[in-house]
Amino acid sequence: MSIKIAPSVLSADFGRLAEEVARAEAAGADWIHLDVMDGHFVPNITIGPQVVAAVRQATGLFLDVHLMISEPDRYLDVFVEAGADGLTVHQETCPHLHRTVERIRDLGARPAVALNPATPVHTLDEILPYLDMVLIMTVNPGFGGQSFIPTSTPKIARLRSELSNRGLADVEIQVDGGISPQTAPEVCAAGATVLVAGAAVFNHEASVAANIAALRRSVGAL
Ligand code: DX5
Ligand code: ZN
Repeated sequence: MSIKIAPSVLSADFGRLAEEVARAEAAGADWIHLDVMDGHFVPNITIGPQVVAAVRQATGLFLDVHLMISEPDRYLDVFVEAGADGLTVHQETCPHLHRTVERIRDLGARPAVALNPATPVHTLDEILPYLDMVLIMTVNPGFGGQSFIPTSTPKIARLRSELSNRGLADVEIQVDGGISPQTAPEVCAAGATVLVAGAAVFNHEASVAANIAALRRSVGAL
């Protein structure tokens, strides 16, 4: 599977969000990753459906919406109406995960499930055949700019091998948190196929285009 790059606009300039998204698109980003946080499941508050709708107006790219919110079932339809193409819910927030995943698919979006760093891969055993993607969090969710947690790499490898053994090789593995040209090669070697990157894409050291190119180069996907 080819490697996709999904810039997280969490580290972008929110006063110029449409321009930042356009810059990422022009630089060859594959997806745009949008982090929704509720100040309850995670200790930070970010954006809601209105901002997703504004980004929808700014780009034709796949909008990958990461819901770090309690009781996500209450908001699935509004995020799809706002323009989300994919919705990721956390395993830790969904007591009826199969129902939630099926609802996302019924709404016409691609369903994915995220695991916090301390949540084991085997908690997804029963749901894997229903998913388009698993998100392995490589930091504790809540903030951009944190350091990659190194035990994430063997966790990704275990999930990739489980997917291959079960004939589910098409399921994407996404990684999110502390992804940079330094950490990207090891997660891709372990089986990750979608790289979310915030601070490594939107920063003051280099342009968005140079940063995306550096990420691609690091995984040999130029
Ligand atoms: C963290 C969010 C991430 C965040 C990643 O909770 O889910 O998407 O933007 O930021 P970086 O790449 O800066 O670690
Ligand atoms: Zn995210």
